[in-house]
Amino acid sequence: MCMLCDKYYPISKVWAFHIFVVSIRHPDDLEKILNSTKHIDKSPGYNILHPWLGTGLLTSTGVKWQTRRKMLTPAFHFNILNQFVDIFIKEGDCMTKSLKDVGGTVVKDLLPFISEYTLNAICDNILNDIDMNSIT
Ligand SMILES: *[C@@H]1O[C@H](CO)[C@@H](O)[C@H](O)[C@H]1NC(C)=O
Repeated sequence: MCMLCDKYYPISKVWAFHIFVVSIRHPDDLEKILNSTKHIDKSPGYNILHPWLGTGLLTSTGVKWQTRRKMLTPAFHFNILNQFVDIFIKEGDCMTKSLKDVGGTVVKDLLPFISEYTLNAICDNILNDIDMNSIT
């Protein structure tokens, strides 16, 4: 699938029986789709998540999705995310250093590295926030 998408970059469509999948990979095309308020229905593959997750932000659509998305959008505003950048950079540097310290040229399993530094970044940002709140 990835090879086909590479070959027919930036847009390709693959049929599987009566269902097709469209792959859109150019950032300008993705921007148009992601900005759209019209094309927000999830693919049928998400239906298997309904018994487990119900219809939350990940699995809902229409007005329910838009309402919840609107509630969360301010939390991801650039001005709010900016305060976390230094910690993400610090943890990214630590992860890079740790990868280099492993030695050799091939690292087989990146998941433990990425998990550790993602968790560090999350905890660091949360504790940073608690520190700031306790001062004021
Ligand atoms: C997508 O939305 C952003 C933010 O509202 C806007 O700056 C950008 O111009 C939009 N892009 C397109 C292609 O509509």
